Amino acid sequence: MQEKKPIIVTSALPYANGPLHLGHLAGAYLTADFFVRYLRLKGEDVVFICGSDEHGVPITIAAEKEGVNPQDIVDRYHEWNKDTFERMGISFDYYGRTSSKIHYETSQEIFKTLYDKGFFSTKTEEHFYDEDAQMFLPDRYVKGECPNCSYPEAYGDQCEKCGNSLHPTDLINPISALSGKAPLRKETQHWYMPLGKAQAKLEEWLDSREGWKSNVSGQVRSWLQEGLNDRAATRDLTWGVPVPLEDAEGKVLYVWFEAPIGYISATKEWALKRNKPEEWRKYWQNPDAKLYHFIGKDNIVFHCIMFPIILMEHGNYVLPENVPANEFLNLEGKKLSTSRGWAVWLHNYVDHFEADLLRYALGVTLPETKDSDFSWKDFQARVNNELVAVLGNFIHRTMSFTEKYADAKVPPLSNPKDVDLAVLEAITLQKEKVEAAFEQFKFREALQESMQLARIGNKYFSDTEPWKSKDSDIESCHNTLHVSAQVVAALSILFDPIIPSSMAKLRAQIGYDGAISWENIGTDLLKVGQKLQKAEILFTKIEDEQIQMELDKLEAQLNNNASDAESEKTIDYPNIKDPINFDDFMAMDLRVGIIKEVTEVPKSNKLLAFKVDIGIETRTIVSGIKKHVQIDRLIGQKVTVICNLAPRMIMGMESKGMILMAESPDGNLHFVTSEAAEGSLLS
Ligand code: MF3
Ligand code: ZN
Repeated sequence: MQEKKPIIVTSALPYANGPLHLGHLAGAYLTADFFVRYLRLKGEDVVFICGSDEHGVPITIAAEKEGVNPQDIVDRYHEWNKDTFERMGISFDYYGRTSSKIHYETSQEIFKTLYDKGFFSTKTEEHFYDEDAQMFLPDRYVKGECPNCSYPEAYGDQCEKCGNSLHPTDLINPISALSGKAPLRKETQHWYMPLGKAQAKLEEWLDSREGWKSNVSGQVRSWLQEGLNDRAATRDLTWGVPVPLEDAEGKVLYVWFEAPIGYISATKEWALKRNKPEEWRKYWQNPDAKLYHFIGKDNIVFHCIMFPIILMEHGNYVLPENVPANEFLNLEGKKLSTSRGWAVWLHNYVDHFEADLLRYALGVTLPETKDSDFSWKDFQARVNNELVAVLGNFIHRTMSFTEKYADAKVPPLSNPKDVDLAVLEAITLQKEKVEAAFEQFKFREALQESMQLARIGNKYFSDTEPWKSKDSDIESCHNTLHVSAQVVAALSILFDPIIPSSMAKLRAQIGYDGAISWENIGTDLLKVGQKLQKAEILFTKIEDEQIQMELDKLEAQLNNNASDAESEKTIDYPNIKDPINFDDFMAMDLRVGIIKEVTEVPKSNKLLAFKVDIGIETRTIVSGIKKHVQIDRLIGQKVTVICNLAPRMIMGMESKGMILMAESPDGNLHFVTSEAAEGSLLS
């Protein structure tokens, strides 16, 4: 990174189908932002691109679930997510969306170019088709019995019970998730990317890559070893970018074909907004440019294999310099799951805490090379023991001592001793370590080495004991304060990529108005006599109660979702009873009744005594449904009564007949009610 080459940094475009959570941040956004902020401080020519992925089955499924249009879903989450990123301090230069006109044009142009070059092969195959909905069914929309584990609710792409990936035709007794009916098989033609044919060229390029993380190159290697298969570039759907060919009515580009092109479209829009419409080419169509994709590990195959092949076949596009993918983040020792409610939502987080605290705490525990865990207790410890006790403490003692013993001005450095000079040198040393870590995408290390400078500062402050030297040797005291102030100023830049808003505050406090440039770290940033403003606390301790509240919130989310999931999951319906004949049924005297009176039965927590008007008479019926009903709502309730059941004595009362109840799968009992007048006979 010596000469200034144009750099483009992208973060995976999140699906606009839900709000963002901690897992998103840890995967593709936080590290990209650290990296970009670092590059900007170095004066690099960098543009940072992201946006909403607005197509694909994840969007239509979310719309289906809520009973709204896909457009409503993407409009809502695009704005919401854009705002959340901003609040988290993620400093995209442009946040686009794949529903934009420019994106349609760009992805269609790329498809068309590949088509004209003869890249695609076509295949006509039978696919499942729902006649009622008049559409071909995406894999996810076909359900049926899993051939591996017999789970009856497996999806056409995967069985969620045994985890096996499936093809819709693998399912036993497939049905359409839309109509619930068995789908037809219908022929349809699609355009395929023959990735296998491009494999040799891809491998040659991959071999020329250096400094890739081992978790990334490992995954890529194993895909290549298996050999690349053809992959469809088109789909039979209405939601998406239309295939720009004559004979492709009702077909759209496969979301993973067009979404990555969104990086290019968004860069075009960014350039347009700056009134330099051709500027995007400097980044995408320039052999000197460097492209970095920040993603989570589930996106590796698309960014390291499919998208590079698309760009290569098209020609005239830059290929990624590096794809620093992260692994997954767990939460409190368990796998993150939005459907189960096991997630920390970023918009909730920023309502309660400063973005910087999470940026730091998550930054030191990132799943860089293997999955890692986020816990609220660890978050609290990182904030209290590191940001508050190390960084904040060092800044504060430097500022307040200077206020008291040097008139709030940076004192001169005179006759420095080795200890003083060693600390000034340590600034440069730490800067270089942090720099090396950033350039190798070792962000945890970059954060630790940044904090190390504050630790060095603290140790120096304690060792030189300015609280003693202020009386015995004011020159030495002032040297400590001078050096410490320089360290504080260096920290304000060193930590800027990580906790930018706190560091901006800090610079205001120390009155630093020089260039905020990486190269300045290690020079005398503060002039002798520079006035320091009042020392203010930058980070405050997080109390146990705050953490407990977050833990409680998580548990509550989990429970809430558990009951949601309950109603979705398959129900064990009791088997149909043995057949009866018609006469058996006709022998039952069933009538509509209306409840006239209810009394509690003494000494029973189950029983209620009802007076039910069944038209011909009013009867007493004792029924064990107390915990299933609200007593004050019963008068006037229509019910069904079996009237010719032999009378029974219950708790000393004669009960004549029975009120029918339906038991729902959750075990609750409900009245079987009718609109007919009381006394009506059922038959
Ligand atoms: N939306 C995808 C996901 O969340 C990521 C798309 S990245 C892009 O997994 F390259 F396709 F844009
Ligand atoms: Zn299964």
